[in-house]
Amino acid sequence: MRKLSFRICLFVFCTTSVVLTDASPGLLKNHVPSLFIFGDSIFDAGNNNYINTTFYKANYPPYGETFFKHPTGRFSDGRLFPDFIAECEKLPLIPPYLQPQNHEFTNGVNFASAGSGALVETNQGIVIDLKTQLAYFKNVSRLLRQKLDGAQTNYLLSRAVYLFSVGGNDYAVPFLTNSSVLRSYSHQQFVGLVIGNLTSVIKEIYKIGGRKFGFLNILPISCTPAAKAILGGGKCFEQITPYVKFHNKQLPKLLHKLRSELKGFKYSFFFMKGFKYSVLPFYSFLDHRIKHPNKYGFKEVKSACCGSGPYRGILSCGGKRGVTEYFLCENVSEYVFFDSAHPPEKANLQFVKQSWNGNSGRLTGSLATMRKSSRIDDDRALLLFLQIDDEMIELFSSKSLMSYGCRKFRSFSTGQALYS
Ligand SMILES: *[C@@H]1O[C@H](CO)[C@@H](O)[C@H](O)[C@H]1NC(C)=O
Ligand SMILES: *[C@@H]1O[C@H](CO)[C@@H](O)[C@H](O)[C@H]1NC(C)=O
Ligand SMILES: *[C@@H]1O[C@H](CO)[C@@H](O)[C@H](O)[C@H]1NC(C)=O
Ligand SMILES: *[C@@H]1O[C@H](CO)[C@@H](O)[C@H](O)[C@H]1NC(C)=O
Ligand SMILES: *[C@@H]1O[C@H](CO)[C@@H](O)[C@H](O)[C@H]1NC(C)=O
Repeated sequence: MRKLSFRICLFVFCTTSVVLTDASPGLLKNHVPSLFIFGDSIFDAGNNNYINTTFYKANYPPYGETFFKHPTGRFSDGRLFPDFIAECEKLPLIPPYLQPQNHEFTNGVNFASAGSGALVETNQGIVIDLKTQLAYFKNVSRLLRQKLDGAQTNYLLSRAVYLFSVGGNDYAVPFLTNSSVLRSYSHQQFVGLVIGNLTSVIKEIYKIGGRKFGFLNILPISCTPAAKAILGGGKCFEQITPYVKFHNKQLPKLLHKLRSELKGFKYSFFFMKGFKYSVLPFYSFLDHRIKHPNKYGFKEVKSACCGSGPYRGILSCGGKRGVTEYFLCENVSEYVFFDSAHPPEKANLQFVKQSWNGNSGRLTGSLATMRKSSRIDDDRALLLFLQIDDEMIELFSSKSLMSYGCRKFRSFSTGQALYS
């Protein structure tokens, strides 16, 4: 029954959405939504290999040892969140923008740069800040327009998912460098600058055609081995916490506001209409593992697997950031942190599964369930994956379902399919 009623809905959607056929141009037929990736070391797949930076590189062993068997520039032993999302979507790994032989952008591209933030001042000169990442994206959209026609490019950009991990460095770096900025602004004001700069970037991407945005909120940076060892004297460095908590509170508020501002888009195919977003709770995900490692299959959370000094909290993993000596654990599977600030592949995978399966609080709809139980097309499935509750209700309210001819439906809660 499940299957049947949902198929009926889909069928009706398709026949009433004339634009669907018009807007899925030949070249991009069956093309799954591209991924454009922005942000910091949580997402950087190797852009920093190509810039003049020493501290924020990870292109030497033991980085990459678990999955790739060679270093790629990722700050982990293996794959990162966007790598798994690409896999889920059956896309190839999304390459770093600066990788020289990379000229194929139709699957998306990764602009993230370890050490970067939303503010240009954050590690200025040794990272690719978010504004520059945006400039690169604009370049890519131009190149796409040269290669595809306008309609196809619009189609590609509006179906694409824009993933962000931004802000952690904006808050951590001033503490690490004892910057005077901390005394010039209240924490609310400072968060306002970060959120303000992020807002401009989102709006620019929207202007170019982006519609579907996914954000990781900021992880508990005050409780990483690095913060504990360098700033906290063994304890979590609580001075950063108000910044992180306020940021994580402001981010969904901002997105909610943008959703009401950024509408009136003239495409009539329903999922292209307005701004869609999802905030993935990376903070609570890691916080739970820091507090109860055993419950999630980890043994060690105070100390990093790779690094030196107390708790291996000095970011010397690989021995090429000024400190040559470092220690490497025997079994990375036991650790919540691979180096002093970054989770290992095992934790990244757990986070993807939580996000993908839709049991994570703000997320609704489970892509996996949708996939299994119907022949839903990728884009619609991804749309569900990227909705938060109120949007879902709005888009798929009983009334609108009925207006599309569906008669069998029921309301849903987190993690449940919306049809029966
Ligand atoms: C790279 O950075 C170092 C240190 O800041 C500087 O001395 C060097 O000139 C830079 N190299 C290039 C090619 O920009
Ligand atoms: C834009 O892309 C072209 C082709 O890849 C490249 O030659 C050029 O340097 C890029 N410009 C910027 C600003 O990234
Ligand atoms: C940070 O800077 C302030 C003002 O310049 C100074 O008083 C303080 O001692 C510095 N703290 C550290 C840990 O260097
Ligand atoms: C962006 O950040 C800069 C500091 O880098 C700040 O001066 C500016 O006001 C911020 N912009 C917004 C819109 O908040
Ligand atoms: C590594 O740790 C994991 C998680 O505790 C455990 O399941 C696995 O058996 C360990 N592997 C070895 C070789 O000890």
